[in-house]
Amino acid sequence: MKPEVFHPMARLVHWLMAILIISMLFIGVSMVGDLSPRHPLLVELHKATGLALLVLVIVRIGLRLTLPHPPLPSDLPALQRVAAGASHLLLYALMLAMPLLGWAMLSAGGYPRPLQLPAIAPHDLHLYAVLRQAHGWAGYLLFATVLVHLGAALMHALVRRDGVLRSMWPSHVRRSE
Ligand code: HEM
Ligand code: HEM
Repeated sequence: MKPEVFHPMARLVHWLMAILIISMLFIGVSMVGDLSPRHPLLVELHKATGLALLVLVIVRIGLRLTLPHPPLPSDLPALQRVAAGASHLLLYALMLAMPLLGWAMLSAGGYPRPLQLPAIAPHDLHLYAVLRQAHGWAGYLLFATVLVHLGAALMHALVRRDGVLRSMWPSHVRRSE
């Protein structure tokens, strides 16, 4: 039988990653063009958190593929089902792409990588410029998708009141118990 709510591990990782990703989006934007003495510290924080997020997203994909998860409400219109599936897939793709683009960009630019990670792209300044742009655009796309996702979560909670937000809420009482 399908559970009513996401597994506690899935909920823990969802909220931990949500906090870290939202912080990363703001840290990323505030780093660009910042010439103040705090810039190197922000870059180090951004790189280390980005690496932690790469590990977390791999764990999360593993959890998603192995743990049972609650179905969407049965009365949800087909179009909203497709939108939910497509937006979740896009969120997973961007959560994986962002750290990989960051890592590849540092490799191409010849910059130091956290934990002395190996290069995953050849040292090439033209490639660095392309990856740097891609990291920025993918970051803004992630931002926009998170806003749509937040809107959908609020729509489920306040308009449809169908238990979807409750299924991902950090702590709650299970109705089935
Ligand atoms: C989920 C993970 C990540 C998110 C959400 C994220 C987000 C961002 C954003 C929004 C920007 C600003 C882009 C712009 O305005 O052009 C940025 C810049 C940057 N990111 Fe990331 N990033 C992530 C992971 C990483 C990783 C893993 C690295 C390196 C290992 C990295 C290295 C950088 C660098 C070097 C910049 C440019 C800073 C500057 O120009 O001063 N990022 N990031
Ligand atoms: C950076 C921020 C966030 C990211 C990257 C993110 C990502 C995701 C992903 C990928 C899923 C699909 C889970 C799965 O089926 O495996 C999901 C589900 C969910 N998220 Fe988020 N999330 C974020 C923030 C939020 C926020 C702020 C809220 C609510 C206010 C929220 C509420 C939910 C809910 C209710 C679900 C369950 C949807 C369902 O049953 O299909 N999320 N989230």
